[in-house]
Amino acid sequence: MTKQPLRILSGVQPSGKLHLGNYFGAVKQHIALQDEGTCFYFIANYHALTTIQDAQTLRDNTRDVALDYLALGLDPERSAFFRQSDVPEVTELAWILGTVTNMGLLERAVSFKEKVDKGIEASVGLFTYPVLMAADILIYRSNIVPVGKDQVQHLEMTQDMAGKFNRAFGDIFPIPNFRLDRESKVPGTDGQKMSKSYGNTIDIFAEGRPLEKTVMGIKTDSTPLGQPLDPDKCNVFALYSLFATDAEKAALAADYRGGKIGYGQAKKLLKAKIEEYFAPAREKRKQLAQQAGQVEEVLRAGASKARAEAEKTMRLVRAAVGL
Ligand code: TRP
Repeated sequence: MTKQPLRILSGVQPSGKLHLGNYFGAVKQHIALQDEGTCFYFIANYHALTTIQDAQTLRDNTRDVALDYLALGLDPERSAFFRQSDVPEVTELAWILGTVTNMGLLERAVSFKEKVDKGIEASVGLFTYPVLMAADILIYRSNIVPVGKDQVQHLEMTQDMAGKFNRAFGDIFPIPNFRLDRESKVPGTDGQKMSKSYGNTIDIFAEGRPLEKTVMGIKTDSTPLGQPLDPDKCNVFALYSLFATDAEKAALAADYRGGKIGYGQAKKLLKAKIEEYFAPAREKRKQLAQQAGQVEEVLRAGASKARAEAEKTMRLVRAAVGL
């Protein structure tokens, strides 16, 4: 028997422009995983409805994430890249999975509680979010799901639902495993973990004046110019390290320790690095942004690949449950 290539799947919520924390924490690995198996990556716009209730915002955010991923190296020839809502079968599977999901399981969801504590409406959709997420994963019979730490509980719930379904109706779903994204060490401009909810992000595709403003605003201590600086305690240095070669890092660390550079100068080096590192992707993004039709075409083609798989699974599921 020939071995099936691993099926890798992940969803990304369309919550606006991606930042450096997203890139080094997740996107970079998602792109690299294209060499390890067949990837299904989608924009979770059904899920986004639990928090975004403005059609134009949802459409703009969806388009921004699509452009960001394609510019950063998502290859639509190798991967299926699509909008969640272009495979509506996933909602049918979510319904069926809901019938084998215990209320108690969902009631233990930490992410639901955290979102409600933040002021998001405790809608039925928000409550059953993990069931739709399980359907996303299972409908493509995925083996590996790269996710951040905050999604691990949702993956465990998916394993639970798949196991329960299989025990009731026969072995339809492989039990998927999560692959933890690299723990993001990307500090935001205030030194806390970079996150949209802290308002401390640096957008991947920022450039020129706006990027300069953000980088110059990175918090540092008040050591006067000419005094030695500690690279290990500096946010600017930590961010620079994400882009620099070992030799460049060592050189900047030596300048810090020798009092040969101030924070202002270090920030200029960082800004140049960010612009240089993402220059090819930025060009590509600009080109893609001018060809709205092409992005739409890519998403549609991705959806038709994904949908063919989803339909196969749904035929098995319907037969198994008696629909
Ligand atoms: N809940 C995920 C997040 O907020 C997004 C998501 C939706 C997802 N469906 C998924 C991730 C399926 C992995 C697999 O980041």
